[in-house]
Formats: sequence, structure tokens, C-alpha cells
Amino acid sequence: MGQSHHAFLKRFQGAITTRDRMEIFRQKPVTIWLTGLSGAGKSTIAFELERQLVSQGRACYVLDGDNIRHGLASDLSFDQKDRRENIRRVAHVAQLMNDAGLIVITALISPMREDRAMAREIIGADNFIETYLSASVDTCAGRDPKGLYAKARAGEIASFTGVSAAYEAPANPDLKIDTAALTPAESVANIFTYLRDNYLTNLACVERS
Ligand code: ADX
Repeated sequence: MGQSHHAFLKRFQGAITTRDRMEIFRQKPVTIWLTGLSGAGKSTIAFELERQLVSQGRACYVLDGDNIRHGLASDLSFDQKDRRENIRRVAHVAQLMNDAGLIVITALISPMREDRAMAREIIGADNFIETYLSASVDTCAGRDPKGLYAKARAGEIASFTGVSAAYEAPANPDLKIDTAALTPAESVANIFTYLRDNYLTNLACVERS
């Protein structure tokens, strides 16, 4: 490869601190990293959680796999290497958004443990909530909101997660939500409570030190 072009890059530090941004937004920035099979409820829960946070005046944004794959990741396939690259890109965007002070919710299958560990590394462990939306393949295939399981089982989609490609469930997620047993509203409420207790704050609590 020769000499890396990174050797000539420096970081520039602006005057605005993380604490300044926390005061402006009245929140500790965090990434809620939703992982689970297609049909586990990631997008539904992500956008409902976003709606509730924004309605309370929080600054929040959803990075949704299907949406990201129309733009930032439109050149990527579903083989393992490209999924990893998808996750790497989204993790960096989430890190930047957290740095800007926003709460980020990602909704990606992110099937491999190692790739989620990479995301945690990029975003920073303190800002990363791995949230496993657990629902079995049969449950998700029963819902099949996009008709993709039927197509995958008929052999029309290659490397489909849960059918012809692996999903490695998190061994130790920060949060586990059983979306087979809970309604979307209940699932959102569980995440919301966790956030409220750990990341949302009033201005008074974020005083200058
Ligand atoms: S990830 O594995 O790279 O994290 P991502 O969440 O971005 O996946 O995209 C998953 C979405 O792409 C699914 O919700 C589904 O609509 C669509 N999709 C198309 N092909 C596949 C496939 N082979 N496996 C999984 N999802 C697929």
C-alpha cells in the first residue's frame, strides 16, 4: 500500500464542547443500536421512539437500513463484507451525529457480533446501547411485512438473514426486547424508560462544571 495518506492528516478541535451541546439539547447524546431479524420491528420501534422523543423536545434522528441503502449504502450488497461496510458507515454517521449532540436510533439487521462490536468501538462504548429486538425467524416470517421471507424461502432472494444467511443474536445486549410478546408501544416504552433514567436530563442537571 505504501505510505498511508492518513499520515498527513491532523484533527482540528473547535471551540464548542460536548457539554455545550448537552446544554443546548438537554440530553446526553447516545446511539440506540437496534439489532434483530428483518420483521423483528426495528423500523416501527425506531420511528415511534423518535416521534416520542421529538414530541418531548429532544433532538433525535433515525438511521434506518432500508433508507440508508437508497443513498449512503446504495453501492453495497448483502454479502458479509458489504454488510460490514454498511455497518461501518452507519456507525461513523451515528458517531458524528452524537458528536453534534443528537440522540441516534439505528435500525439495521447488523447480524454479526463482530460487526456490532466494531460499531460499539466506532461510536464509543459510553454512547452505545445495543438493543436486541428478539423475535424468532418463524415469528418474523409469520409477519413478513415486506413479503421477503416468502421470496427467500422460495429461493428468490440469496443470502437472506434467518433463511440463507446467519443471524448471531447478541449474547449480552444492553437491552433485550421480546417483540414477539410485547406490542410495539410496550417495546418503545421499555426503551424510553431506560433512556429517561440514563440519558435524558433537565437543564438544571447539566450545569457547567
Ligand atoms: S444489514 O445486514 O446490512 O444490517 P440492513 O438492515 O441494512 O441489513 O438491510 C436490511 C433490509 O434490506 C431488510 O429489511 C430487507 O428489507 C432488505 N433486504 C434485501 N435483501 C436482503 C437480504 N438478503 N437479507 C436481509 N435483508 C435484505
